[in-house]
Amino acid sequence: MGATGATGNALVRGLLALGIPVRALTRTPHLPLPGLIGTHRPTVEVRYADAADAHSLRTAFHGADQLFLAMANGPQQVELETRVIDIAADSGIRHIVKVSAPAAEPNSPVAVSRGHHAVEEHLRARGLPHTVLRPYAFMQNLLRLAPTVGQGVILGTTGDAACNHVDCRDIADVAAAALTSPDVAGGVHTLTGSEAVSYPDIARRLSALTGERIRYVDLSPDELRDHLVHRAHMPDWLAEHVTEIQRLAVARPETPTTTVADILGRPPRTLDAFLTEHRARFNRRAEDAADAEHRRATQSP
Ligand SMILES: NC(=O)c1ccc[n+]([C@@H]2O[C@H](COP(=O)([O-])OP(=O)(O)OC[C@H]3O[C@@H](n4cnc5c(N)ncnc54)[C@H](OP(=O)(O)O)[C@@H]3O)[C@@H](O)[C@H]2O)c1
Repeated sequence: MGATGATGNALVRGLLALGIPVRALTRTPHLPLPGLIGTHRPTVEVRYADAADAHSLRTAFHGADQLFLAMANGPQQVELETRVIDIAADSGIRHIVKVSAPAAEPNSPVAVSRGHHAVEEHLRARGLPHTVLRPYAFMQNLLRLAPTVGQGVILGTTGDAACNHVDCRDIADVAAAALTSPDVAGGVHTLTGSEAVSYPDIARRLSALTGERIRYVDLSPDELRDHLVHRAHMPDWLAEHVTEIQRLAVARPETPTTTVADILGRPPRTLDAFLTEHRARFNRRAEDAADAEHRRATQSP
């Protein structure tokens, strides 16, 4: 579940590359699965499933033996994931790999993490074998900064605090290991990249990479929340979530774990490699040139 999401989509591709049959679940099975147009389409079974629709889950889980569960954040997340787990257990699924989050504790200062804790507890209570992945912030989230980076700023409330980031493709590789290796299955794995980097440092690295002047602007938590709601048009709960996560990074200094390397036997993908790979997204001049080229190419003769 979550086959169209950042981690789930990378996992589908990873499992297909390993020759493992995959059923990719989405609420929009009529749309092409991202990254799989053409090549793998005939070998991946794409099915409709909505966690809000118990019948669709029963149908989708029929005959499956393991479940990867990555569910978008939202006010209903605990209710939806709990239902998914119950129906998976009743459908004969024998192992669930769940994407959780750091600080999944009953009194966590991050509401989404309290929700993940509740779901993890439900997994334990059901007695169903499971693996929990607790990744820190996805590097892929940084692409959402591209619009303000294009204006020369990164806004946040983390100050100089170092923050862990992990590439979703590494989370997917660990998930694939959990689904295929008894040594990895059954654990609680906290996943990070190889270094914790502050946002001012990310701004410096992006400046060097793009040749643009990009600076980090530190806001108070209230200012950040206000910006996210009124300028970035985020729903209130998501703006609150982003602000809580950033405050947690200040309250609890983040350091990398060696889990990705321990499990995969290779170092995690680096932040610099990720930024370089996506340089054009952050670079105003490159974007402008691409837009101009696109306009030229699509203009009537
Ligand atoms: N983003 C981060 O930095 C980060 C860090 C740590 C942990 N996490 C955790 O990772 C998980 C995934 O987060 P994300 O924001 O990155 O997700 P995402 O990549 O945007 O993917 C969300 C997935 O959830 C599926 N989904 C949403 N509602 C659904 C429903 N009612 N029934 C079935 N599927 C549904 C979507 O499938 P369709 O739309 O195709 O149906 C989509 O594939 C979250 O639980 C989050 O707490 C995220």
